Amino acid sequence: MFELSGMANKSLGSAKKEKNDEYYTQLTDIENELRHYSNQLKGKVIFCNCDDPFESNFFKYFAMNFNRLGLKKLIVTCYNPSPIAGSQLALFDIKPSVKKGMNKNSKHSYKIEITEVKDYDGNGSTNLDDVEYLLKHGGNALTLLNGDGDFRSEESIALLKQADVVVTNPPFSMLIEYMDQLVRYKKNFIIVGSLHSLHYKEIFELIRSNKLWLGHKPTGTDMLFDVPEDYAAELVKTKKEGSSYKIIDGKVMGRAAVIWYTNFDVVKRHEILYLYKKYTPEEYPKYDNLDAIEVNQAINIPENYHGYMGVFDSFLDKYNPDQFELIGIPTGNSGKEIGVTKNYRGRTDISLTRNGKTSCPYSRIIIQRKRKI
Ligand SMILES: C[S@@+](CC[C@H](N)C(=O)[O-])C[C@H]1O[C@@H](n2cnc3c(N)ncnc32)[C@H](O)[C@@H]1O
Repeated sequence: MFELSGMANKSLGSAKKEKNDEYYTQLTDIENELRHYSNQLKGKVIFCNCDDPFESNFFKYFAMNFNRLGLKKLIVTCYNPSPIAGSQLALFDIKPSVKKGMNKNSKHSYKIEITEVKDYDGNGSTNLDDVEYLLKHGGNALTLLNGDGDFRSEESIALLKQADVVVTNPPFSMLIEYMDQLVRYKKNFIIVGSLHSLHYKEIFELIRSNKLWLGHKPTGTDMLFDVPEDYAAELVKTKKEGSSYKIIDGKVMGRAAVIWYTNFDVVKRHEILYLYKKYTPEEYPKYDNLDAIEVNQAINIPENYHGYMGVFDSFLDKYNPDQFELIGIPTGNSGKEIGVTKNYRGRTDISLTRNGKTSCPYSRIIIQRKRKI
C-alpha cells in the first residue's frame, strides 16, 4: 500500500468535488483501445467497477461483444452518488427497475452480472437490442448492492477478487488509490487516466518498476468525453472552446489529455528505438540544476550519450524497458531524490538557460540509456 503524497491526499479529500471525475468515455475510444486486447480478454471475468451500466459505454462494449470476445463473465457496478446515475446520458430507453428495499426517489447502487448474451431478436448476431432485452428480462442480471458501490468497499473488493481484468475510466482524482488497489490485488487492467497523472510520484513509480505502462493510444491524441449538463454549461461559460471542450453536432463534449494504463503486454514495449543523432553540447543543452541534457523528441535521443536526459511525456510511447531506464520526475521532492538542486526561483524544478533566457521546462521525465542496447 502506498504512502500517499500530499497532492494525492488533497486529491482524495476533494474527490467528490472534482468535476472531471464525471467524464464519460465514448464507445469509439473504448473500441479503438480494446480491439488490441482481444486475445488477452478471451475467457476472462471482466469487472467495470466505476460504471453505471445504464450509462457506461464500457458496459455497452463488453455486453455487445461478450460472445465475440469469448468472455466468461461481465460484472459492472455503479457508485451511488454519481450525479447522472439513471438520468442524463442513458444508453437505453429503460431505467433500473425499483426492487424491494429500494427507495424509488433515491439513486441506487447496483450491479449487473452477465454470463451469457443470447441473440434474443434472432437476427444472427448479438447487438444493443439484445443487451437491452437482457436488462429488461434478464432475471437476476441486475441486483442491488448493499452499499454505495465505492470501489474500495468490501462488497466491491469481493467482486474484484472474482475478476481477472478490470477495465474502466475511474474518477481522475482517485487514480492513485485506484491503481494501488489493482496492483495490490494483482489484477490485470486497462484503465483511462489523465496524461498528467504519470507525473504523480506513486504512478510514476509503478511505471518505473514495470508494474504498469501505457496502452496503445498515443499520448498526443486527446479524447472527447460526455459530461453532465451542468458541467457542460460551466465549460462553455468559463473555458476555451477547442482546448477544454468541443461542440460536436450541437453537443458540448469535455476534452482531456488522457492515456490508457495497462499491465497487459503491448508490442511497442519491445520495439527498439533506433537512434541516429550524435550528441553536441550546442544541440543538447544541460539543465542549470541537474546533470542532464534536454532532448526535444524521442527520435532525437543521441546514440552516443549515456548520461541523464530530460524527455517529454511522448517518450513513453516509445519506451522499451530493455533499452531505457526511467530515472525520475524532475520536480519537487521527486526532483530532489534524483539530484535536482534549487533553481533561480528557489524551487527544486529543473530550469534551462538558452540564449541568455532561463525558464522551467514543463513536464519532463528523466531517463537514461541502458548499456546493453
Ligand atoms: C470519469 S467517470 C467515468 C465513468 C465511466 N467509467 C465511463 O468511462 O463512462 C468516473 C465514474 O466513477 C464514479 N465514482 C466516483 N467515485 C467513485 C468511487 N469511490 N467508487 C466507484 N466509482 C466512483 C463516478 O460516479 C463516475 O461515474
